[in-house]
Amino acid sequence: MRTVHVQTAEPYDVYIGADLLSECGQIINKAAGGSKAMIVSDSNVAPLYLEKVVKSMEAAGYECVSKVINAGEEHKNFATLVDIVETAAAERLSRKDIMVALGGGVVGDITGFAAAVYMRGIGYVQLPTTVLAAVDSSVGGKTAVDLPMGKNLAGAFYQPKAVICDYDCFDTLPDRDRNSGYAEVIKYAMIRGTEIFDMLDGPVENLIAKCITIKAVIVSEDEHESGVRQLLNFGHTIGHALEQNSGYTMLHGEAVARGMVYACELAEAKGKLAEGTKKTLIDALLRYNLDVDGAFDAEAIEGYMRNDKKAGGDKVNFVMPERIGACTVERMDIGEIVGVINELHNC
Ligand code: GLY
Repeated sequence: MRTVHVQTAEPYDVYIGADLLSECGQIINKAAGGSKAMIVSDSNVAPLYLEKVVKSMEAAGYECVSKVINAGEEHKNFATLVDIVETAAAERLSRKDIMVALGGGVVGDITGFAAAVYMRGIGYVQLPTTVLAAVDSSVGGKTAVDLPMGKNLAGAFYQPKAVICDYDCFDTLPDRDRNSGYAEVIKYAMIRGTEIFDMLDGPVENLIAKCITIKAVIVSEDEHESGVRQLLNFGHTIGHALEQNSGYTMLHGEAVARGMVYACELAEAKGKLAEGTKKTLIDALLRYNLDVDGAFDAEAIEGYMRNDKKAGGDKVNFVMPERIGACTVERMDIGEIVGVINELHNC
């Protein structure tokens, strides 16, 4: 088992290893305490892992309550959030008790938000079961639900007490979901960790630990995204817009993959991208069957970008790639971003 420390105002550890769900109860007890736990999972993950988690937690002395929500980004909304917190109240969870998020990004984001607002904040632990949640959304305390106007528009920065990443869970992921998660892995290579490209064929534990270490360093330096943490949004400004425009039929990583390629094209058009950068990115994305080219609906994308929480007026903080392992954040005009990409894809 590997451990990565996250030095936020309330620090915690990320545990990475095989079959960790079988021993999660003890780790959770040590990190989060409490006597009662509400385990939130979704309709895809619960049949696979909920029983194992409950068994381990009961063995560690917890009284467990389960809450299974419908799977899918379209359920990451206020209705589901209310359902979770009302269940917590009906089950009489106290301030000393905890919530446990067992699942991918949707379960992690909404459970974290529920933990942040229930009784003005109770402890929670993340048990990510997807590549995407393991390397990105479970670490760093970004919790949220989506609004009809945009993704993650309501939420809170609220750090978990621990993150337990059992990478055996990746074995049951559909190919499309696993591949989508690798877009976030490749994102780390693009912003900070060139060596990740060489680790893609190595042990998954090393790869996951590397990505989480990069994220932990960044989040420890800038918990609330006023500076360096913005780099983690590489590919996301356009990616989130593409994801929303697809009605969430496009997976997050699939949209981020396209967003990263478009960001490279924009940097290239502005003469800012080192030669070979875009090709290295595309070659890596194609290994995971991630689409790197596709229809670009300029009008819709521009609308969604204006609703992005990182936008203000006509401008947005855009993560501009310069070369592999190096990006900068630039305040850019949304119309210019969309205009340049639209021109490249419609001529
Ligand atoms: N997913 C980007 C971040 O946690 O900042």
